Amino acid sequence: MRFLWFGFVASAAFAFATDFASVAPVIEKNCAGCHQPGEIGPMALTSYAEVRPWAKAIRAAVLSRTMPPWHANPNASTHFANSRALSDADIALLTRWVDEGAPQGKRPAAIRLAAKSSGWTLGAKPDLIVSVPPHPIPAGGILSYVFVIRGTNFPEDKWIRGAEWKIDQRQVVHHMNAFIRPPGSSYLNGAPRDAAYVATPSERAARKPGERETDRRELLAGYEPGYRPAFWENGRAKLLRKGSDIVFEIHYTPNGKATTDASELGLYFASEPPRERVLTITPADADMAIPPGDPNYVTRMSATMKSPVELISLQPHMHLRGKAFQVRAVFPGGRTEALLDVPKYDFNWQTTYYLQSPLRLPEGARLEYVGVFDNSPNNKSNPDATKTVRWGDQSYEEMSIGFTEVAFPVTADPEVATLSGTTRPAGTKAPARNP
Ligand code: HEC
Repeated sequence: MRFLWFGFVASAAFAFATDFASVAPVIEKNCAGCHQPGEIGPMALTSYAEVRPWAKAIRAAVLSRTMPPWHANPNASTHFANSRALSDADIALLTRWVDEGAPQGKRPAAIRLAAKSSGWTLGAKPDLIVSVPPHPIPAGGILSYVFVIRGTNFPEDKWIRGAEWKIDQRQVVHHMNAFIRPPGSSYLNGAPRDAAYVATPSERAARKPGERETDRRELLAGYEPGYRPAFWENGRAKLLRKGSDIVFEIHYTPNGKATTDASELGLYFASEPPRERVLTITPADADMAIPPGDPNYVTRMSATMKSPVELISLQPHMHLRGKAFQVRAVFPGGRTEALLDVPKYDFNWQTTYYLQSPLRLPEGARLEYVGVFDNSPNNKSNPDATKTVRWGDQSYEEMSIGFTEVAFPVTADPEVATLSGTTRPAGTKAPARNP
């Protein structure tokens, strides 16, 4: 069936001869959003004159599926709502056009650019804007994570249906995370408020004995290259308990020019209490030790459901030695389902994969994550193949995390999963730690 459709599209295009007018809609829809002035693509692709010199490179990029950037295996059974993958028909069309000499043709063709919003895209104006106080970033050096604690002052609980970053200095913001810190939490307890603060590793790890994870902190939203604003639809929202703080965790990476960053996080509140609460769980393997030169070091994490949830999104997180990442579900009874396969992980694209339709995971179902690392010199991104690499904040250290958004009835206990993560042989227990 796919074959027939394929042939049909190709011959339909052929009937017009493959001119720029035939490929312009594909470029408009799939490329121009990034390849225009002021966006992250290195060159503009918004007219025949701009596209023509890149024809050969475009052919190579779409055939190898390096462009548009989308790292999930397109043949997997899970479909993602935010997929950027080109269809086979579009790849065939672009390739044919280049093979025919990338002609302009006589038909008029234009690439229309979506109107730029100067501000927030999830809605006119967020209900709450939480700002990072202006923070100076030097021209060079390796900077520790910076933490900023901001209070919220609502007389009641709020439900957050959307969260969007307005990043001020994109070129030096490696990533930002915003956490919800409920009242009474041990997380960064004692750190100053409203000012940038470099917390020590032990301050960051400190916790009260027996404290529930959701009483300590909860990831609200992350920003990293390739991010899209988080919007929880269909009666789902994240809970901001009365008296909570927002804690920013920020990693600035200097790029040769001193600057000052003043980024913001915009929160949109639900007008009614949602049906389901959304929570990000973060199974991680924090006790890795990747030997020098090892081309295939495997880390494993899991999340076993204590009560039924719906899986909304998955986001692999590794650093420069990250090579591949997979997630599968193991259902009670043993049936397994492959959910995400990232065969060529790329640190520069930290993508959250939103499932087209949320997946029901019953009590006892287990998500299993495999993060594979390449610490050999064959890994072009490897900063140093002679070192044993352990968990750490910096890009030359490593992480292995499967950020996982789940939703469950607001009345359910939010401690929905038991997490574990270890590179040790099966059967030996390692403590599940939170990054
Ligand atoms: C989400 C943003 C994004 C989209 C969508 C996108 N690109 Fe890119 N493109 C980039 C970035 C960033 C780079 C440079 C870094 C890299 O290669 O990852 C790039 C690089 C390229 C290059 C290589 C340029 C060079 O210097 O060799 C080509 C060719 C290209 N893109 C073509 C396309 C085509 C064709 C499409 C659509 C089918 C597309 N891109 C869609 C962001 C994007």
